[in-house]
Amino acid sequence: MRPCPDSPEIREIVIMSDRFAHWEPPKIEDGKPTKYNWIVQCTDGFVLGRRTDIGAFTYINAKHGVILEEDVQIGSHCSVYSVSTIDDKAGRVRLKKNCRIGSHTVILPGVTVGENSVVGAMSLVTCDIPPDSLAYGVPARVVSSLPRDKQ
Ligand SMILES: CC(C)(COP(=O)(O)OP(=O)(O)OC[C@H]1O[C@@H](n2cnc3c(N)ncnc32)[C@H](O)[C@@H]1OP(=O)(O)O)[C@@H](O)C(=O)NCCC(=O)NCCS
Repeated sequence: MRPCPDSPEIREIVIMSDRFAHWEPPKIEDGKPTKYNWIVQCTDGFVLGRRTDIGAFTYINAKHGVILEEDVQIGSHCSVYSVSTIDDKAGRVRLKKNCRIGSHTVILPGVTVGENSVVGAMSLVTCDIPPDSLAYGVPARVVSSLPRDKQ
């Protein structure tokens, strides 16, 4: 059954979509917090798609490329590394259209997260996540597929 137009569910959906009605990319300066308090290092390798939403205290190292496609959401306190000096890995990271990354998640070099996929909070993403998938854990594993009408 569909909720009636003045129900709380409908109001919530309207508020969520309104959030991006006048979306503008923030000013991004190398190693400095944006007005939303996320940081990109090596901005030359960073591509920000339209209507992306990145939570506070997320850190992105784009030395080898970080591409965020349109409508990507990243929670707060995430780390996205295109280079990891601790284990000497490097590679472009790509978060494809409409994927969502839960808070406190770490994404390692070379990873692609597929279109419409959801990565649960506090995950360690060590390898590619296919499109339309729900994945979580340390390391992140696909636990189910997401039907398009539920996304
Ligand atoms: C991954 C997620 C989307 C799953 O939501 P859901 O489908 O409603 O899942 P449920 O709460 O029903 O949990 C299902 C099972 O997965 C487990 N689970 C859920 N999220 C998990 C996570 N991030 N890590 C590990 N296990 C997780 C639950 O413990 C539960 O296990 P059980 O079946 O053994 O009891 C959600 O838990 C999540 O992590 N969302 C991110 C939210 C976030 O970070 N928001 C802030 C940014 S806006």
